[in-house]
Amino acid sequence: MPSAVGRARRTFEPFARVLLALVLVACSGPTHEPGPPEAPYDPLALPEAVDSNPDPHIFETTLEARVENLELIAGTTTPVWTYDGLLPGPLIRVAVGDRLIVHFTNDLPEETTIHWHGLRIPNDMDGVPDVTQPGVMPGGSFTYDFTVPDAGTYWYHPHYDSAEQVGYGLYGPIVVTDPNEPKDLGSEHVLVLSDMNLNPDGSLIPGDDAGDLGTLFGREGNTFLVNGKVNPLVTVPSGSRQRWRMINAAKSRYYQVGIQGQTFTRIGGDDGFIAAPQPLDRVVITPAQRADVVFDVALPPSSQVPVLWIPYDRGFGSVEFRNSATIFTLATDDHAPVTPPPLPALSRDIEPIDVSSATTQYLQLTENDQDGHVMLGINGVPGSQAQPLMAGVGDTQIWVVENTMDWSHPFHIHGFFFQVLDTNGVPPAVAEWRDTADVTVYGTTRLAVKFTDRPGMWMFHCHILDHADAGMMGMVHLHP
Ligand code: C2O
Ligand code: CU
Repeated sequence: MPSAVGRARRTFEPFARVLLALVLVACSGPTHEPGPPEAPYDPLALPEAVDSNPDPHIFETTLEARVENLELIAGTTTPVWTYDGLLPGPLIRVAVGDRLIVHFTNDLPEETTIHWHGLRIPNDMDGVPDVTQPGVMPGGSFTYDFTVPDAGTYWYHPHYDSAEQVGYGLYGPIVVTDPNEPKDLGSEHVLVLSDMNLNPDGSLIPGDDAGDLGTLFGREGNTFLVNGKVNPLVTVPSGSRQRWRMINAAKSRYYQVGIQGQTFTRIGGDDGFIAAPQPLDRVVITPAQRADVVFDVALPPSSQVPVLWIPYDRGFGSVEFRNSATIFTLATDDHAPVTPPPLPALSRDIEPIDVSSATTQYLQLTENDQDGHVMLGINGVPGSQAQPLMAGVGDTQIWVVENTMDWSHPFHIHGFFFQVLDTNGVPPAVAEWRDTADVTVYGTTRLAVKFTDRPGMWMFHCHILDHADAGMMGMVHLHP
């Protein structure tokens, strides 16, 4: 356009004036001067929460839960349940040791709370309605205020009607940075992986879709989302090092992520770095888990490849007749491949928890019939009727978690990291701290947990949220 205007001005002055006027009206910005080059558009970029507190070690912000109409599928609108109108909610980026203050208001048509998944914070900040705080009613508010003790990738989500509320879009990422972390880990993206169950017109499919069968399987959404987008195109330099902090925020779907011809190095999990980097062809992330992976893009310039969700066997019906699906498309620009510096040596001392004087708790993940309806539970009892387990501050316990069902369960404990001792007798390949561990179909996972501090009532549950809501929940009463 500008060059056409220039040429016109020289030869057909009156016509050029009209054309110039049209151009100026059409552009909201008045200038055609060449400005500084714009940063390339990054469809994975996440809006960040804004810190209003001048103290560099206090991050103070607001969050509002509300329904917002978003265009997830082109040409349709979806009434998404959001934090601040965003899907996912704003990225909260704080440094380890910072104090985080969140003034939360609820503008949803339903009670809610915020649970800070994976953060070792005081019990009264844990966000479980009627257990650690009163639920936040529509129009109500609550201030969360705590210190963030561990570096890593975490997330936040409600703990009321969580299958429905998380399934409708209420979740957001938290990155706790460590200023002493090694450099050269690559260009960082936080990837909030999720899915949503939508009708063709964009409306939400109700959370009780498919009845008891839906509950048993755990409802997976029919629309894959990464950072709230459907199959975005992400362009990076060929050969460049990428660091993906992935969060599985789906209420039921396991993510097995792979790229044809690409290997990954997993460097972190639920609680920051793992003991040593782990090479992987595919990255498996159960609901609620996080995976921090780095890789040098093994794709020639000017090409593209799908980043795939690959069916993962989590029980009956999870792999049969199912195909891989594209989560997003990774493309390279036309520049010559770059060569990043070697990956810095990474290691973290993770002392095995001393279990020599541990007591043992046996937990069976169970399925019962109640009045002709599926009821899930722990040791045959739904969470609402269960007596809490007991533990004292300073105690170490071994939890033997046994799955009696045809579907896997990602088992989550609030407030404390644990170490998996073994899964079906096999110890983990790399030592790491977890807050969520897979318990396979008819399998047993043994984990060790040390209740170091912070007495109170702490939840544990399956993080297939349909299972949790159907009763697969419990509490441990940690007494001083
Ligand atoms: Cu993400 Cu009760 O937890
Ligand atoms: Cu489950």
